[in-house]
Amino acid sequence: DSNRFQAIISHCKEYGFIFPSSEIYDGLQAVYDYGQMGSELKKNIRDYWWKSMTQLHDNIVGIDAAIFMHPTTWKASGHVDNFNDPMIDNKDSKKRYRVDHLIEAHADKMVADGRKDEAQGMLDEMERLDAKNDFAGLKKLITDHNITCSISGTANWTDIRQFNLMFSTEFGSVAAEEGEDNTVYLRPETAQGIFVNFLNVQKTGRMKVPFGIAQIGKAFRNEIVARQFVFRMREFEQMEMQFFVRPGTEGEWYKYWKEARLQWHLSLGISPESYRYHDHVKLAHYAKEACDIEFNFPIGFKEVEGIHSRGDFDLSQHEKFSKKKMQYFDNDIDPATGKPFGNYIPYVIETSIGLDRMFLLIMSHAYEEQDLSTAEKADSRVVLKLPAKLSPIKLAVLPLTKKDGLPEIAKSIMDECKSHFKSFYEEKDSIGKRYRRMDALGTPFCITVDHQTKEDNTVTVRHRDSMEQERIPISEIRNLVLKAIE
Ligand code: GAP
Repeated sequence: DSNRFQAIISHCKEYGFIFPSSEIYDGLQAVYDYGQMGSELKKNIRDYWWKSMTQLHDNIVGIDAAIFMHPTTWKASGHVDNFNDPMIDNKDSKKRYRVDHLIEAHADKMVADGRKDEAQGMLDEMERLDAKNDFAGLKKLITDHNITCSISGTANWTDIRQFNLMFSTEFGSVAAEEGEDNTVYLRPETAQGIFVNFLNVQKTGRMKVPFGIAQIGKAFRNEIVARQFVFRMREFEQMEMQFFVRPGTEGEWYKYWKEARLQWHLSLGISPESYRYHDHVKLAHYAKEACDIEFNFPIGFKEVEGIHSRGDFDLSQHEKFSKKKMQYFDNDIDPATGKPFGNYIPYVIETSIGLDRMFLLIMSHAYEEQDLSTAEKADSRVVLKLPAKLSPIKLAVLPLTKKDGLPEIAKSIMDECKSHFKSFYEEKDSIGKRYRRMDALGTPFCITVDHQTKEDNTVTVRHRDSMEQERIPISEIRNLVLKAIE
């Protein structure tokens, strides 16, 4: 629900996870900065994905291609001609909306009013009309449902038109000669950096089909209605993997990756009920088969990741536009002919997930407001039940008091732990307050050094989720944490 969503947004700001970009100038719409906690959490998600792709799969390697690419890339990929969204303007407020976002926002309101079936009917109809590019039909849907502009409250709409979502800029410092075009685009997906490097990696890495290339990096889209926090941004990060397969085997690999990617999500300990697949009716210009993995965000079930069967669309297009061969020689024996499979352009299965959206997913999963009141006293806490391997801080080391040599012992524990995982030392405030602050940051373990520590070399460990405490020897701290994050 929207209260929970607002609470998560406020929490992200208050505890240094996410700030609006250039906030002192009132922010920049749909652009965000990750703070001291957010950048650690984001990095941990990134590392978890990277490891699962490039370390746990023998046949997947990673690259890091540039954001700028030769402009012809985007002609070949189809983005110049096809990366458009239907938009509509409100004549009174002069506000422009992406048609699907406008209708989806209205559907959210209908659901909030208890008109769930009606909302679903409208969304199905939208998907059907959208698949046919039936703009008149879409406009009729908007007027029939009396969808109004959120600013002016009026329903005075223009006709629907197409807008390209790519950002462009001028390349080089010299003005373009007449007839010459200096325009370059900020990549709207990272995938093309992989396609143009397909043969470089295949040859230098001596890769054999089937194999994959993974990449993590920034992508940019001039989203028109950019709302919903980091769910839809103008500058965001993608984690993409292109898996190159022999034509004819794409069906089984599509199935494999669809399943494998859901398993990756579940491996973080998130319940399967929070997820569902959504098979696409309308396919992107490059896709033969496609589905989304959707997560039940506080704003409803929404896409977090896409799995796409792209055929040989991209490599063939690059072959055509660059006039360079994109063929791969497969010397495996084809049982049908008894001869090698020979030359072909591989087919591609793509998995593509937004890092920022995954961040929001993890926050939505982890954020919990708990009422801890007893008969004697009212009490509550906010806890982030983050998977320990993703927590920004793994261990907080807290001396009970600032004196009696307790800080010195705590600091020696810090010295022993901090090269193994992110540890945090804090001596300010009461111990109760310090625990609550660590709960709000998602720190799985707090250890307290007290007077007994001086006698028997034990400390108190407090577990975040259960709030249970136990005493363990100092010598066991490191392994306790390492075991939880491995
Ligand atoms: N290469 C295929 C591709 O880019 P996509 O479905 O357009 O496919 C993939 O994007 C993923 O990138 C989405 O599932 C989403 O997680 C993320 N994403 C796309 N647009 C985004 C935006 N404006 N803000 C944040 N994440 C976005």
